[in-house]
Formats: sequence, C-alpha cells, structure tokens
Amino acid sequence: MSASLDVTSLADAEIHRLREDFPILQTQVNGHPLVYLDSGATSQRPQAVLDAERGFLTTLNSAVHRGAHTLAAEATELFEDARATVARFVGAHDDEIVWTSNATEAINLVAYAFSNASVGRGGAAAEKFRLGEGDEIVTTEMEHHANLIPWQELAARTGASLRVIPVDDDGALRLDEAVRLIGPRTRLVAVTHVSNVLGVINPVEQLIAAAHEAGALVLLDACQSVPHLPIDVKALDVDFAVFSGHKMLGPTGVGALYGRRELLEAMPPFLTGGSMITTVTTTSAEYLPPPQRFEAGTQRVSQAIALAAAVDYLSAVGMTRIADHEAALGHRLVEGLSAIDGVRVLGAGIDLPRVGLASFDIPGIHSHDVGQFLDDQGIAVRVGHHCAQPLHRRLGVTSSTRASTYLYSTESEVDAFLEGVAATIEFFGVRS
Ligand SMILES: Cc1ncc(COP(=O)(O)O)c(C=O)c1O
Repeated sequence: MSASLDVTSLADAEIHRLREDFPILQTQVNGHPLVYLDSGATSQRPQAVLDAERGFLTTLNSAVHRGAHTLAAEATELFEDARATVARFVGAHDDEIVWTSNATEAINLVAYAFSNASVGRGGAAAEKFRLGEGDEIVTTEMEHHANLIPWQELAARTGASLRVIPVDDDGALRLDEAVRLIGPRTRLVAVTHVSNVLGVINPVEQLIAAAHEAGALVLLDACQSVPHLPIDVKALDVDFAVFSGHKMLGPTGVGALYGRRELLEAMPPFLTGGSMITTVTTTSAEYLPPPQRFEAGTQRVSQAIALAAAVDYLSAVGMTRIADHEAALGHRLVEGLSAIDGVRVLGAGIDLPRVGLASFDIPGIHSHDVGQFLDDQGIAVRVGHHCAQPLHRRLGVTSSTRASTYLYSTESEVDAFLEGVAATIEFFGVRS
C-alpha cells in the first residue's frame, strides 16, 4: 500500500497516491469519473483488503474453532488475530470484541440479552440486565433505526418504558432534556456517537457521565465514528459499542460488539447453538465464556480477516489525520451547500465538531431527483430518510440528500458535487 506513517495532515499528493489503492475509484460512471460521496452508507475497499479476503479463501478456507487439521488451525489463528487487531484499534481487550454480521446485529444481541435476562435466563449474574415495569431505556430522536427499533421491541417485551431525548430545531441533542430524562429508573442509555444524517459528533461524554451517575449502562452506536475518528472505548468509558466492517474499508457481513468484560461475562446469550457451549445434554447446556458465548454457528472468517486488513490500512494512514482531513471536507460541504441559493442544510447551525458528511433538502425537488441528476454526472450520494425517519420528521422533511466522504475523498470531488447541486437547482428552476 502507498500510505505512510506521516504525522502531518493528509496532503493532496498523498490522497492521490492512496486512491490508487482503491480499484473502484478508477471507474467511470455514466461517462464521468466516479465521484463517490456515499461512504457513510458503505465504504470502498483497498486492494490490500480485497487481497486479504481472496488470499484466505484461496489458500486457507476452513471453519474455525472446530477442525483438528492444519487449515482449520491456521484459520482459527488468523481469525483470533483479526479479533485482537480490531480490539487494539478501539482500545479494547481481545476478549471484549464479539464478531457479529453488522452493527444492527450487535445492537440486537444486546437487546436480546436484556430480554432473555428479563425472563430469568443467566441466573443471578444477569441481574443487571433484568428489565420490568418502572425501568427505563433512554435513546434519542436522532438515532438510526438500528439503534431505536431494538429498544422499542425490548420495551414491549419487558414492560420497561422507552424515553427519547429530543433534538432542537437545528437537530442538536437537547442536553438539558437528557439530564432530566436520565435518572434513577434508567437502566440503559443507547446513543449515537456521530449522527448519520447531520454529521455532527455528539457530546456523548456528558451523556455517558450522566448515565453512569444514575447507575445505567451505555451503548454507543459507533457506526459513523469508528471509521472516521480515533476511538478508545475505555477512554470514552462506554459499556457497549457497535460498528460495521463495511463502513471502515472492510467487507460486508462482519461487524463487532465491544462489551466490557465483566458485563459480557454476566450476559446471557442471544443466539444459541454450535460453538458457544462447553457441555450439552438433551435438556440443558453450559456456555463458553465470552466472546465465544455470543458467536453461535459457523463464523464469518474471511470477512473478519479482511476487516483486520482494513484496520491495518486505516492505522497506517493514521486515524487523527483521517479525522482532520474529513473535518475539513465536512466544513467545505456544509459551507458550500449553505452558500447555494435554494438549499437547506440539515443541522447547519449546530456548533459541534463534524465528520465529512452533510444532508440537505432542496424544497421543490425530491431527493430522488437530486440523486438521479447527480448520478448522471457520475456523482454517487445517498437519498431518502437514511434510516432516520424520526429526525427527518422533527426537521420538517420526509427525505434528504446526503454526501459523505472518507480518507480517499478530495476537495475537488466536493467542489464537483457542489457544482452538481447548483446545476440541479438550475435545471429544475426552483431557486428560493
Ligand atoms: C449511525 C448508524 N447506526 C447503525 C447503522 C446500521 O449499520 P449496519 O446496517 O451496517 O448494521 C448505520 C448504517 O447506516 C448507521 O449509520
């Protein structure tokens, strides 16, 4: 790979070298060079990640933690090394990372562990996860549906109630309301670190402190932060954190749950079956310690190994430099969009640090038309509600268009996108 361990910011020349590592970035779309501004949905993969997955499948493919043969032993070693790499990347211990299919499954894993504890599974150790009437789960109005619906379902199954921290007219979390909503009845606070619609980095430290003061656990949806910022789960002092491989240069089909070791040890499993047990009779089973207790069934081995290669790639470039580069692109996006007559940038007024992501509405043009017009110029963006209907509703729109960057995005791509948006407005003739 062409990335280097430079401590200075990512210079244009280096980004252009980096881009050569990503075969898809060399493609043309509709006769134009691809301008990929949809990394918030899924990121592109460098050759090193493609090679890691293919290399494993070509020479070592086998199931892990099962076979006695050479391939199985080597696959198991690589699989566990991959876990250690991902754990180090977020500041966790190796046994505090559970492989999942994606962040959605990781959140559901925690929700089902609470649910199973609430019907008496897990014995005395699982007391912390038992919910019933009078208990409260707190989340926010800006969550991705993945960090909302599992809690709605958990509340419905256990009789606990769901409290929702509102956002203000700009879309910023109402911290005054958070302090009021988090109290002695709160058992869990589930919050997103970075909004997948607004691109702002939430001041989660304050929520984490308030939750812990109230004796509640905290689950951080780190889907949009782990790929873009240096993250240390211990420094953040969260109890659980979730993220997806495909948003951080890795493959689809793999994600991770971080859980504090003593919590994972006390938690009943979500999925049950092979590979998560020590002893089984026809009427009962004893479970392995975490993380294996939460990894029932044949695992996603090539994907985990490729995710470790993605993490190595990101680490070699440097997460602080990636964050700085994307903060600059994020501001260019927000300022550039705000300067276009007829564009309303969601959350533009929020005074918080940002990643390289911005969503906007053009009253009079449906986001699908905006996306299609941009696509005609080779510019790929996300349109719709971005799995965050409550936030869109609160901001008075049903959908928006989202541009999101990554380490391989350039200022000139952002500028091409801004010109594309201006041309869209010109074409549809809807200036304010
Ligand atoms: C903030 C946030 N949370 C959760 C998810 C769900 O991720 P996945 O679909 O990979 O499980 C996403 C994906 O867009 C996201 O942006």
